[in-house]
Amino acid sequence: MSRIAVVPGSFDPVTLGHLDVIGRAAGLFDELHVLVVHNPGKTALLPIAQRVSLIEQSIADAGIIGNIVVTNWSVGLLVDYCTEVGATVIVKGIRSQVDVAYETPMALVNRNLAAVETVFLLPNPAHAYVSSSLVRQVASLGGDVSPYVPAVVSKFLQKD
Ligand code: PNS
Repeated sequence: MSRIAVVPGSFDPVTLGHLDVIGRAAGLFDELHVLVVHNPGKTALLPIAQRVSLIEQSIADAGIIGNIVVTNWSVGLLVDYCTEVGATVIVKGIRSQVDVAYETPMALVNRNLAAVETVFLLPNPAHAYVSSSLVRQVASLGGDVSPYVPAVVSKFLQKD
């Protein structure tokens, strides 16, 4: 049986931490879907299609091997997408206890909703403090985000 997993997130923009988790997950599952989901609790920087494109380019540039689909979902619950594509696992990166507290209720709700399990992966500690919100703030104030994001994202943000 083919194991399909989903790595969901806002990815606004994708960071080196996200990419690290995507690379690790790609080695664990037969098929991996990186899913850009609008988070109504956050003010967006990039359009969804742009985020998808930057993730695709970042995965290619990093040489991440695997059966990887990058797409977006905006018509319902995350678990509805999982059911539609036959995914049984959601993968999330955990940087700290703060992430555990944020992710645990979502993982339990997703399991109650559709029996989809969540797997937490630990990223490279070098990326432990990197977040999209930090990147958005540094970029919006003209700072250098190249240590935190793939080169294609850094170039894209510097264009603005
Ligand atoms: O990168 P983020 O913003 O922390 O990702 C959060 C996200 C988008 C994965 C989460 O908000 C989500 O799953 N949204 C989809 C709506 C949904 O299914 N909600 C119920 C599950 S708690």
